Amino acid sequence: MKWYDNAIIYQIYPKSFQDTNDDGIGDLQGIIKRLDYIKNLGVNTIWLNPIFVSPQIDNGYDVSNYFAIDPSIGTTDDFEQLIKEAHERDLHVILDLPINHTSDQHPWFKDALSNPNSIFKDYYIWQKGVNGHEPNNWGSFFGGSVWTKVSPESNNYYFHLFDKKMPDLNWKNVEVQRSMADIAKFWVDKGVDGFRLDAFIHMAKANLKQMSLKSGKYPTDDTFYAKLPEVKQYLSGFVSEVKEQNPDTFLFGEASSADSHQAAEYTRPEEDECDVIVSSNNYGEVYDDDSKVKGFFQPRKFSLDHFKETFVDWESVLANISYPALTWGNHDVSRFVDRLNLPTDDPKLQKSLAMMMFLQRGIPIIYYGEEIGQHGLKYQSVDDFDDQRAVELIDNLRAQKFDDDDILALLNEEDEMTARGPFQWDDSEFGGFSNVQPWNWAKQLPASAKAEVSDDNSMLSFYQKLLRLKSTSLFSQGDYCLLATNKDILAYERTINDSYGIVVINYSDKPIDYVLPTNKNLKVALANQKVDVTGQVVHLEPWGCCALVKEEEEING
Ligand code: NOJ
Repeated sequence: MKWYDNAIIYQIYPKSFQDTNDDGIGDLQGIIKRLDYIKNLGVNTIWLNPIFVSPQIDNGYDVSNYFAIDPSIGTTDDFEQLIKEAHERDLHVILDLPINHTSDQHPWFKDALSNPNSIFKDYYIWQKGVNGHEPNNWGSFFGGSVWTKVSPESNNYYFHLFDKKMPDLNWKNVEVQRSMADIAKFWVDKGVDGFRLDAFIHMAKANLKQMSLKSGKYPTDDTFYAKLPEVKQYLSGFVSEVKEQNPDTFLFGEASSADSHQAAEYTRPEEDECDVIVSSNNYGEVYDDDSKVKGFFQPRKFSLDHFKETFVDWESVLANISYPALTWGNHDVSRFVDRLNLPTDDPKLQKSLAMMMFLQRGIPIIYYGEEIGQHGLKYQSVDDFDDQRAVELIDNLRAQKFDDDDILALLNEEDEMTARGPFQWDDSEFGGFSNVQPWNWAKQLPASAKAEVSDDNSMLSFYQKLLRLKSTSLFSQGDYCLLATNKDILAYERTINDSYGIVVINYSDKPIDYVLPTNKNLKVALANQKVDVTGQVVHLEPWGCCALVKEEEEING
């Protein structure tokens, strides 16, 4: 077994976690200051969104120097201190590594653009335009074409799947493959325990002369630039080098569009691949088909049926291969308490959702602030949203005569920037995050880690107990079996050796009696309110949840 088979990950958006030098931007010293809080939460791993030098066009996913820390976040000394202090507390540190693209300010790209004999030309992807147009009609994930002209007079274009200031690397080039492995190995030597491989499924592209058959001006079309066969080849070259440097390095790949079978394909233990895949297809949510808004900002809602289907699928497909990632979201979507259109704000429901997700078989990833029930930022005007996708949406909806207030409400519910707000440490003006106005700032619903620490009934206390339970071999390693129940109930069993556990959730506003599938003597290991177990019947109040284990079991949340 590897250490990461029991990983419980806490995702930190460094810019928004804790500012210590009063510039309104979170920093590494801030993370160091909060390591005891993180440890007490009960996680054993932190994942930091990118901290390398970056012009911050995409908040660090546009890297211009992979060997140094962005000055707004800290220094190499700070990073070494962070690694040391994290390791002293048995916390592992995972860095986010954008491997599909660099910033256009990266010296490789600058040289490739300005120097006709540049050895870095072949680090990127270029094509000539066709009849005054882009080489093809493929769309970028951030809106517009994947192609940008190198200069207005030129007919030469470079390729970018994301922002035009983030040119894609040409992974066909063995020098690119070697350079990326060298970068990873540099950080492994500094003591880093793993990497999140950002956008790795896009490393290979199809024939650049092909046209997308999808409609629209620049349709995004995975067929040509996601999950192509060569991805596995590039991945395995990279992974074998990194694991040779340190076989304990944990690699989790971001494959937002992967289904369970594709996740299995990228995590086969006998091959040099990722250890875990994180996809946005396993949040258990469904799109609201009645909405007039489609695509990226389409409203979503939680569906218990869909959650069941999703996890039966992921758990069974990955059963003997790898662990599913268990998460309610990340920095690329609004916070789940805003996004899922939940039937009630009752914190009991949030606790039930946390239990239903994290006690399954898999690796929990907790998005900073979720453990205190933090909501997203509530911006006051549509003009506060300035990224390309949001601006295109606003133009589009205004053209359809949507009211600005409705557009604002939609964006506050769906836009990812709302999820990237400052952590709410206390109830002071800027939430204890900073003494000055944070870089990303708008109204916030009240929440306070300080108040929750000393309240045994708080969300934070519940998460602490839940993660203690998760750390047991039963809930981290045990087999998983979803039970057939009626529609408002979710129940699953976990078993390992002689240990047995069952999780039961009442997803309704009415009390329920659930008849257990076993006559073993069970006790309550954790519940979000009082729960009554009489014989084989569990009585759960509205939005109630409980985890039951065998009477003689020595585990308590
Ligand atoms: C996925 C990251 O999570 C997202 O924030 C970023 O914009 C893209 N990859 C591009 O790096």
